[in-house]
Amino acid sequence: MVVQPASQVTHTPYEELPGNVLGLRPDPQALFNHSPEVKLDLLKELTGKSVLSAYVFDKQKLLELFKFAALLQTGRFPASRALTGKILAAAFFEPSTRTRLSFESAMLRLGGETISVADAKTTGVAKGESLRDIGQMFNSYADIVVVRHTEQNAVQLLSEYLRVPLINGGNGSDEHPTQALADWYALLKWRPEIAFSKLPEDKKLHLGIVGTPGNMRTVKSFLIMALLMHENISDITIISEMADPLGPEIKDFCDKSPISFKFSNDLQGCLGDLDIIYMNSIAFLGDGYRHLSSNFVLSSKSPLKKDAVVLHPLARGPELDIDLDDTPHNLYFNQADGAVFVRQALLLTMLGRVETVLQGEYSS
Ligand code: CP
Repeated sequence: MVVQPASQVTHTPYEELPGNVLGLRPDPQALFNHSPEVKLDLLKELTGKSVLSAYVFDKQKLLELFKFAALLQTGRFPASRALTGKILAAAFFEPSTRTRLSFESAMLRLGGETISVADAKTTGVAKGESLRDIGQMFNSYADIVVVRHTEQNAVQLLSEYLRVPLINGGNGSDEHPTQALADWYALLKWRPEIAFSKLPEDKKLHLGIVGTPGNMRTVKSFLIMALLMHENISDITIISEMADPLGPEIKDFCDKSPISFKFSNDLQGCLGDLDIIYMNSIAFLGDGYRHLSSNFVLSSKSPLKKDAVVLHPLARGPELDIDLDDTPHNLYFNQADGAVFVRQALLLTMLGRVETVLQGEYSS
């Protein structure tokens, strides 16, 4: 089934929508200018499923999800009651600002409700309760669960006991798939042709990743989705001080991609070639999270290409100078801003409410 945006529904012009005011604010409308249909059948394949990894998404599902998010962001399909009666459990056994709050905001703006764990010490974990038993409680208390945990295997373990869909909100150094959704939603609003066109060789993009996909969950999930855009990404340069920044699992996947991979420890020397720079500096090393000591700092004085954009999942460290905030290189605030809409689109999809929204059931 193919649904087109309901033209009779008035929507707020993009420039009047609330959102971050610093940096770039690409118009979500750009996404459905290229392809003005949301293919429900593709989204329905995600209904009732869990999202533990970025590998869950193929390119077409990603694009349908982003178009749906864009319809929600522009207000074309009112959805403020679409999840009435549904409860999200946001269980964060590791600190978070954006992921937990944007999921909660997404749920509340859709008329749903949330129950939260903001600190593991306030749960039975402090008394030695097992994840297995906590999972059993989620089955009774919520319709969908988002979990963050320091342990890589926690999300997989929980999924074995859950009968409701589970979203991985970040598991140790492994993955953060919905952060990658926010990353690529921002990038494709900025340059939809990366996904919707076939660019000539000399217009293909060079992506720089500052970090280590092998032990940075945001970077890893971002890279997995980047490989889906291989038609229009010519090169990826990984900028890291580590000898093996990819690690064995992701290296195998990258080796099979037609994208050319390069490795460097000289960020400033690479910047003149990069169209997109994805930065992060928090890595899981051995026994905990550390800010990588870094020579890799971006500021308004860095020799960036004129149209280059910078993404960062935040929280930022000294690697991202605040003097970049008020420049046209800043796509990172838009990345965080769009996270609410892309997470709304995901929640509606996983809970099977896309069709009712697109049929205008909530418009009166
Ligand atoms: N991007 C991200 O995961 O941020 P939080 O740690 O604040 O959730």
